[in-house]
Parts: sequence; structure tokens; C-alpha cells
Amino acid sequence: MKITHDTIERKTGLLIALVILVVSIGGLVEIVPLFFQKDLIEPVAGLKPYEPLRLVGRDIYVREGCYNCHSQMIRPFRSETERYGPYSVAGEFVYDRPFQWGSKRTGPDLARVGGRYSDEWHRLHFEDPRQVVPESNMPSYAFLNRPLDMDVKRRMTVLRILGHPYSQKEIDESDAAMKGKTELDALIAYLQGLGIQIKTVKG
Ligand code: HEC
Repeated sequence: MKITHDTIERKTGLLIALVILVVSIGGLVEIVPLFFQKDLIEPVAGLKPYEPLRLVGRDIYVREGCYNCHSQMIRPFRSETERYGPYSVAGEFVYDRPFQWGSKRTGPDLARVGGRYSDEWHRLHFEDPRQVVPESNMPSYAFLNRPLDMDVKRRMTVLRILGHPYSQKEIDESDAAMKGKTELDALIAYLQGLGIQIKTVKG
């Protein structure tokens, strides 16, 4: 049987099969190269995968649902950059799985909170936010002052499979960084490193 345009349009099964064939070629052309590309997005200069204490601190941030009140994404508007600093760029989030951009700002954006306050300020603030910001409605996280008991080796090993460049030495020595630390220490370490790679507004 000679397949003409006319037969294809009359035989729905054949039409569907050919449409799927054509669309999948288009899809494959777009998707397959991504598997061979090492980095889709280049990390910004100075960005490193989370060191052990910060990595578990980040998981505490996620566990406590801080993203429900805090975003980590500064938009490219003047009102935002004047308040928070340079707007966020994709290369800052390559080691964030999952990213913590958030969408709700009951509290301020935290994308560049690293280094803005001392560790001691954070300690007081988490114990009871009203101690340092009288009008705050942020809940107290005093209970985080408890020993850290999280398996950081396993987390790093899994992230390495996903492409985070941890060396075996870093993974082997990761437990040392956790010794004697509290959950609060880890959370503060995480916050203190947020957004510190880019410090000036470009352009
Ligand atoms: C119910 C909403 C809410 C939750 C949940 C919440 N916060 Fe807040 N947060 C706020 C508000 C409001 C402020 C601004 C007043 C203040 O500084 O306390 C704030 C301020 C902050 C600041 C100071 C930011 C700045 O630039 O001044 C940090 C840091 C912070 N929060 C971290 C956290 C972390 C970490 C968690 C999770 C453990 C968390 N917050 C959970 C509402 C919240």
C-alpha cells in the first residue's frame, strides 16, 4: 500500500503513530544533549557545595518550615535590591536540592542574610525573636538548642551521586565537623553562608 498524505489523514491510528514519532524526535533532540552536559548552570565564582555543618543546618531549615515565612530569592527590582542586596542569579543555587526560593514573605528575604548579623544575634533571635526585634511575630526556636544527631555522611554520599563535587576525604572527615554541635549551631552556620558570594549590585 502506498502511503500518501491522504491515507495518513484517513487512518487515525497511523496518524497518531506518525505524530508520536515526529514529536519524539523533536523531544529527543532537546532532551538527550542534557544528559551529556556536565553543568547546565555554572556555579557563581566562589560557590562551593555545602560543608557538612551547613548541609545539615539547611535540612533543619527545611524541616522547621522556615520557607513558609521566608523567601530566598531577591527579585531584580530596585525596592528589593536596595533592601536586600544584589538580585539572585541561577548560579547561586546549583547546590540547593531542593531550592528554598519560597513564595511567602511574612519575614524578610534571607537570600543574603549571611554575615548581616553576628552568631550571637542569631542565637538571641532564635531563643526569642522579641529579644532583638520587639515587634516580631516569628516563633521561638529555643528548642533547637539540643544535640545534633543527623547522618551527614549519607547525605553527602547521595549528593555526590547527584553531582555535588565532594571528595571522599571530605565525606570521611565530615563527622568531625558535627562533634559537640547543636541543631542551632548548624542552622546558624547555614544562614551565615547565605548569599555571600555576590556582594555588590552589578551594572
Ligand atoms: C511565622 C513566620 C515565621 C517563621 C515560621 C519563621 N520566621 Fe524568621 N522572621 C519572621 C519575621 C516576621 C521576621 C522579621 C522580624 C524579626 O527579625 O524577628 C523574621 C526574621 C528572621 C531573620 C532576620 C532576618 C533579617 O534580615 O533581619 C532570620 C535570620 C530568620 N527570621 C530566620 C528564620 C529561620 C531560620 C526560621 C526557621 C527556623 C524562621 N525564621 C521561621 C517570621 C518567621
